[in-house]
Amino acid sequence: MRIAMIGSGYVGLVSGACFAQFGHDVMCVDKDADKIARLRKGEMPIYEPGLDKLVTDNMRAGRLDFSTNLADAVGNADAVFIAVGTPTRRGDGHADLSYVYAAAAEIAEAIRGYTVVVTKSTVPVGTGREVARIIREARPATDFDVASNPEFLREGAAIEDFMKPDRVVIGVESQRARDVMAAIYRPLNLIQTPMVFTNIETAEVTKYAGNAFLATKITFINEIADLCEKVGADVHDVARGIGLDGRIGRKFLHPGPGFGGSCFPKDTLALAYTAREADAPQTIVEQVIEVNNARKKRMAKKVIDFCGGSVAGLRICVLGVTFKANTDDMRDAPSLDIVPALMAAGAEIVAFDPEGMKEAARMLPGVTFARTAYEAASDADVLVVITEWHEFRGLDPRRLKEAMRQPRIVDLRNIFNPDEMRGLGFAYEGIGRPQPRT
Ligand code: UGA
Repeated sequence: MRIAMIGSGYVGLVSGACFAQFGHDVMCVDKDADKIARLRKGEMPIYEPGLDKLVTDNMRAGRLDFSTNLADAVGNADAVFIAVGTPTRRGDGHADLSYVYAAAAEIAEAIRGYTVVVTKSTVPVGTGREVARIIREARPATDFDVASNPEFLREGAAIEDFMKPDRVVIGVESQRARDVMAAIYRPLNLIQTPMVFTNIETAEVTKYAGNAFLATKITFINEIADLCEKVGADVHDVARGIGLDGRIGRKFLHPGPGFGGSCFPKDTLALAYTAREADAPQTIVEQVIEVNNARKKRMAKKVIDFCGGSVAGLRICVLGVTFKANTDDMRDAPSLDIVPALMAAGAEIVAFDPEGMKEAARMLPGVTFARTAYEAASDADVLVVITEWHEFRGLDPRRLKEAMRQPRIVDLRNIFNPDEMRGLGFAYEGIGRPQPRT
């Protein structure tokens, strides 16, 4: 199959590279000429484990290329995937679809022969239908179908998620389009991946329902963690105790400072907005958004309370600023709420993050960035873990203690063992874990 991928951001780039790995001929397109030039040299615009090798291997094999020329890519393709950004529209929470519709208009002019136009970006219900209308209106005689094929990959595990998905959801409304989509995903038959074929609206809703459910699950365990803190229970044991019930499942029950990233915050908002417009309000999701926003803000207060009610004049070591581990992505990261609030309360912040510091330096002015976690901890009055980078788990607590002015840790991801840290002389507080009995 010949595939054109319109938009070479996270989803476009990973999907394009993985489709090439499936054996298809893929042309990834982007308007950003600099990004395309760098990709052609094998330079990745994002940090994603394994992506650089996948891209360079497939370029070398002649199956993957990058271009700014949308018309050529679309003209030669059996399927065109729209993977451009859908940011939150300013002011109302609705997804901004202007890039999607602009891409549809350009695609319409470039189609030659039967082509399936697929939305891969997360788009509100009704978008696929509108894409079809735009193409049909611009070129009434065009031979095409639209399809919706939402992506479920996670940043940091994107390649594994794409190559070994739990399922593939495909919204199509003609046998011809279904055949093309089935051919594209045929390599996954080998690992018996379930293919869920639906109509277009169903596929679109499925994507939002999935993300909203996961965001709800996280928010639920975060509130249970609050309860655990008050009553002397351990949220990890609660999560295990409920998660072993197959109806609930163990994943996404890890408490933390609140969910962030480029998807959950944006998609829950967009779902709430679409649902209100459709007169079917999603009140649970609306509550999740509110609870999560409040939680991210409250985390700074947790640190301040832990320090006895004030952090004025204190030096705070922040470990991890990205919205989760294994990414350099800072979008809607809890650190963006926590760090400025601590600075406003008079603290000096020295931070370290393995991949996110370049972006963070722009978004967190006034923060000093250290070269290592130990350097960040040097002379600190308290250490705050915001992101659960694997390498933080391996830090030597004795070395941290020696480096710090006061051995105090607020662990917003529960990466350390409370008993061990307290045993070593740290004042330690995690999320949803019992305080030692006095
Ligand atoms: C999420 C979904 O997991 C993907 O399936 C989906 O494809 C993607 O959004 C998308 O729509 O593009 P992602 O945003 O990369 O993926 O990251 P997650 O691993 O889901 O984490 C999201 C947030 O939830 C992070 O802030 C993370 O720290 C938090 N989280 C996750 C928790 O606090 N606890 C958990 O147990 C799991």
